[in-house]
Formats: sequence, structure tokens, C-alpha cells
Amino acid sequence: MRTKTTEMFGLDAPIFAFSHCRDVVVEATRAGGMGVLGTTRLDPEQLEQELRWIDDHTNGRPYGLDLALPNKMEKVRDMADRDLVLPREHIAFVDTLLADAGIPPLPSDEHEKLHLGSPGFRLTAEGGMELIEVALKHPQIKLVVSALGVAPPDMVELLHAHGIKVGALVGSVAHALRQQQAGMDILVAQGMEAGAHTGNIASMVLWPQVVDAVAPLPVLAAGGVGRGRQMAAALALGAEGVWCGSIWLGTRESELSPEMKERFFEAKSEDAVQRRVLTGKQCRMLRSKFTEAWEAPGAPKPLPMPLQSMLVAEARSRIERARNKDFMTYYVGQIVGDMTFETSVRNVVYEMLTELSDTFDRFEQQMKED
Ligand SMILES: Cc1cc2nc3c(=O)[nH]c(=O)nc-3n(C[C@H](O)[C@H](O)[C@H](O)COP(=O)(O)O)c2cc1C
Repeated sequence: MRTKTTEMFGLDAPIFAFSHCRDVVVEATRAGGMGVLGTTRLDPEQLEQELRWIDDHTNGRPYGLDLALPNKMEKVRDMADRDLVLPREHIAFVDTLLADAGIPPLPSDEHEKLHLGSPGFRLTAEGGMELIEVALKHPQIKLVVSALGVAPPDMVELLHAHGIKVGALVGSVAHALRQQQAGMDILVAQGMEAGAHTGNIASMVLWPQVVDAVAPLPVLAAGGVGRGRQMAAALALGAEGVWCGSIWLGTRESELSPEMKERFFEAKSEDAVQRRVLTGKQCRMLRSKFTEAWEAPGAPKPLPMPLQSMLVAEARSRIERARNKDFMTYYVGQIVGDMTFETSVRNVVYEMLTELSDTFDRFEQQMKED
């Protein structure tokens, strides 16, 4: 397949695979698409390790990196000051919720580990720049994308000076125009069906709006893409490829625990709900007893980013450690309703391209019949 984005990066297929898991990034890249590693959970040393591993397993093929650089965020605080900084009511709410569910506290070494560092620092321009400095030592990185805000001009300039294309996730035409002005080479138009942080406009409406608004800039279609017919729709609406996140979570390469995967395989599309409980900003995630407790009458309002993440980090680890399926949640989009069994990254790519090709054949047949 040839589109502007396969030409731009020398790919076999215009399939971009966002993941926090290096194995997914490697497999998608080896399958002819482009894996893009999410960095929000990594410090520079960890990033260096992950990138070395990806370099060693991708045969010189290009891959990408993703940063979150929110334009609006509260001041970053040290995790060690958590109990001083966060409202007592919120801390008590989470503690009581977990205690009532019989979810035990963490062992003291794990508790201490969680109380190190400053969780929001990687989301600042300074924290992001430290990650970029690591990335520049890995010449296979050909794309850096930012989410939640506009990358600072010096970062964009630095990346361009190293021959790296720069992109951004957008959820509206206004965001898209702002990012175009900031010098982006490619945009990812992400509809509200998507997993994790989302806007409020559905993919079917958003994709052509963004394509038309920023032409001739190439646009990737994100939000609700997991199969070939959705890819055909994205291309028909003017996208130059697709950018997928949720569909990789059901693969054997994904970072999720078997229990979390099982929850996904049982879930319907309507179980992927928009909530603020994990980060303080609107995110799509799997409905669970933990997410719904925050919707109950009398529950406190989630705190702004990055305070809400500081608040719930330990609770998430406790729930995961206790393997409590009812309380587990994770970011996922509405495509979760189509994910019913474990597969592999290679299989997802193969099936997507096969269904895409069948769809084109069907169109051709229909045109002939007319
Ligand atoms: C588990 C998960 C975590 C995500 N984290 C990020 C992130 O850190 N940065 C980012 O730009 N996008 C993130 N996203 C959004 C993806 O980049 C992508 O736009 C989205 O998943 C596309 O929609 P889909 O989930 O329907 O495939 C995440 C998505 C998921 C499912």
C-alpha cells in the first residue's frame, strides 16, 4: 500500500501502533507498520533501556515515540508530599473504598517505591526534553508525537534539525489548526471512541473535518479502528493511514495481566466509559467498581492533573496486586466490544489488511454492477 505516510517513513502499511509496551512496538514495526512507544511511565534511564531493546529487535526499521505535554496542568509535586498536598477527604475516600472491598495495603517496600519521584514531571516541557535527549541517540526514531498540548518551539526545532518528523494528537479542528501552526508534519485525528484521553467528537465526523482543515498535511485516523473495514472508512474519509491503541491490548504481546485481558474480552463497547478518575482529565476506560464509585452520590470530584494520578497510583497497584477483577480498570476504547480472544500483533495487522483488501474488492464489484 502507498499513502503519504508510507512514503514519508518507508512503511509497507499505513498502520501506526501506539503502545506503552515495547513488544507491541517491535511486532507492529516488524509487521510493516510503525510502532510508537508511549513514554509517560518512563524516566530517561528506563527509556534508554526500552529503546535499546527496540533497536535490537527491529532490523533498522523506523519507529516512533509519544510524549504527553498537557497545556493545562497543576503544579508538579513530589510524591513524598502526597499526604500534605492532597485533600484529606480524597485520601480517605480511596482508603475506605479499598478497605471496604477487602483489598490489602501494599507491602512496605512497594509502598515506598510508589512514593518516590514527581509523577507529573515527565508531562512538563522540561521533563519531556530529557526524554527527547535520550531519543536523539536512537536514529531509528523517525517520528515524535505529542498528546494533550502543543510541543514547545525549541523541541520541534530540535527534532526537525535531527530529521525527525513531529506530530500531534488532536480532537477538534481548533486543536488541529493550532498544531499545524506550531509546525507539525503529521496529525493524528482522534475521535471520542478512543481509549485514554479523548475529546467529544466522533471519528466519523472528526476525521474529514481535520483532513479538510489542514490539507495538504497528512492526517492519521484514530479512535475506533481495529479492523479492515474501519481502515477502509478512514482512508475513504481522507486519512493517510490509521493510528490504533486499544486493539493491541488484547494481544499476547500486550503489557496487561491475564485478569485485565479477561475483563476486556468479556466487555461490550458500552463498558468503555469516559471518566476522570485515573488522571483528572476525561479518559475512556473500562467501567469497574473503582470507576463507578466516583460517580456515586457523595463521592468527591476527581482532582486536576497530575494530582489525581498521585491520589490513585497506590490504589491501582493495590487492585492489580490483589488481582481484583471487579475493581480493575484500564484505558480502552469502544473497540473493546470487538476484542473477544487473545491474538497477536502480527495477526491483527494481517487481518486488518486482508479485510481492507476484501472491502476494496467489494467496492470494485459494486461499481461494476452499477
Ligand atoms: C492504554 C492506552 C494508553 C494510551 N496512552 C496514551 C499516551 O500516553 N499518549 C498518547 O498520545 N495517546 C495515548 N493513548 C491514545 C492512543 O494514542 C490512540 O490515539 C487511541 O488509542 C486510538 O483509539 P483506539 O483506542 O480506539 O485505538 C492511549 C490509548 C490507550 C488504549
